[in-house]
Amino acid sequence: MDSNTEKIFFSYSETETEKFASEIAASLEVGSTVLLRGDLGAGKTVFSRGFARGLGCDDTLSSPTYTIVQEYMLPGNHRLYHMDLYRIADANSALGFGVDEFIDDPKAFKLIEWPERIESLLPQKCINVQIIHKGDEEREIRVKR
Ligand SMILES: Nc1ncnc2c1ncn2[C@@H]1O[C@H](COP(=O)(O)OP(=O)(O)OP(=O)(O)O)[C@@H](O)[C@H]1O
Ligand SMILES: [Mg+2]
Repeated sequence: MDSNTEKIFFSYSETETEKFASEIAASLEVGSTVLLRGDLGAGKTVFSRGFARGLGCDDTLSSPTYTIVQEYMLPGNHRLYHMDLYRIADANSALGFGVDEFIDDPKAFKLIEWPERIESLLPQKCINVQIIHKGDEEREIRVKR
């Protein structure tokens, strides 16, 4: 995919979202940061699960709601940091738990749910994923690099 292009995908099931996410993941370089935007229940964690699988992660990704950051080991000694910032008030409280160390790790993939909480700390070059709830099982997924 070229830079500045937007890819729009319509998903009709959790499985389709996971598969789409795994394909996106497989196309990214180590160090990439993916921002996941969308309402509660849109499918950000479902997307993350497929994404982790696309990176060859053996563990099943779970919702990190109460842990904020969940770390997964990947083949090649790489890591995936999955962050859920829903309960984080702002950039300052995120710095309080050291969010910058995760974001700055060049050997890790970063997946961030609720990046709105730390807008000022986000790297310039991110992959933006927006998930829109269209119906019971229908989602519109926009990926912008
Ligand atoms: N096409 C679809 N893609 C993804 N999830 C879907 C789809 N259709 C139905 N779902 C359901 O929508 C829900 C998505 O939940 P998920 O935890 O991924 O949302 P979330 O965006 O991470 O929410 P939160 O902000 O609370 O973390 C799941 O229950 C899933 O089964
Ligand atoms: Mg979630």
